[in-house]
Amino acid sequence: MIEVTAPSNIALIKYMGKQDADLRLPTNPSLSMTLDSLSTTVKLWPHETFQMAYGEQRAHKHYVRIQQDARRLLADYSMACRIPPGCALEVQSTFPASAGIASSASSFAAMTTAFLKYWSQDDAQFLTAWELPQFKERIAQLARLGSGSACRSFFGPFASWDGEHVSSVSTQLELIHCVVLIHTEEKKVSSAEAHTRIHSSPLWHGRPDRARARFDTSLKALMQNDFPTLIHEAWQDFWDMHSLFHTADPWWTYFEPGTIQLLKTLFGCGFLVTLDAGPNIHIIALRQDTEKLQALLHPHKVLWDKPSSGVRFGL
Ligand code: PMV
Repeated sequence: MIEVTAPSNIALIKYMGKQDADLRLPTNPSLSMTLDSLSTTVKLWPHETFQMAYGEQRAHKHYVRIQQDARRLLADYSMACRIPPGCALEVQSTFPASAGIASSASSFAAMTTAFLKYWSQDDAQFLTAWELPQFKERIAQLARLGSGSACRSFFGPFASWDGEHVSSVSTQLELIHCVVLIHTEEKKVSSAEAHTRIHSSPLWHGRPDRARARFDTSLKALMQNDFPTLIHEAWQDFWDMHSLFHTADPWWTYFEPGTIQLLKTLFGCGFLVTLDAGPNIHIIALRQDTEKLQALLHPHKVLWDKPSSGVRFGL
């Protein structure tokens, strides 16, 4: 059996809008923190047909779609490749589906890695190649074809994604993460739909340039351990993305009354605050401020996490 665990990730500078929908190439670069325990574990066994409890259609499409590129990738690293028509998959996330945390990033990162390990004929050789960032990047590029943001879950503690290229960004900042659960019903507008509908917003004009400028500033801030600048850029960028939603035609919102209420409490408190495509609030704080944050968030329902280096193997 093959077991792979991939964490979710939360973007500070958001991927919103595709330059190439089929290849899932983004219009702007993005920057995210790679999470740790908010993750998805995939268990894979050999099986004659493709079998999976949930989401089989999308997973099977991905299984077939990446085969040709996978053969090329394994050959480039002198590995044999055998692709059987099927396998059995068990996919389990540590967070409830209703938590409003995208499970597609962690699921596609874990599944893609599990498929590649299954198809390569030599586990030891695969794990040796895995240590090479270029090899991991090629697998991340295949995961991206299933879910764009999945490519960032391979690298940590932060990951930058620009066009085809995805890599780790390190920092000496000691950080924690949490997500405050405001509303846990399934969202009415999927991120796939958001990526296309935002083009109808008058604010779309200039968005790629604004995001790139924030990406550059944030990368520098991370490397210089400059948390206040990160807080500022992340705040600006989540408002920018949600303003696209609020001004698209037709417009929509993920905000709930509780979202606004907590945003008002958090504003100016020295925490990095961001929203994904949902009503729940993600917070990144300096580790030394954990207790202050816990006190501020009481009695909300909160899932706590920390940064990690990305995809890992179970067995
Ligand atoms: O990976 P996708 O196609 O589900 O896009 C998700 C994009 C956002 O989560 C809204 C932002 C991001 O960069 O993670």
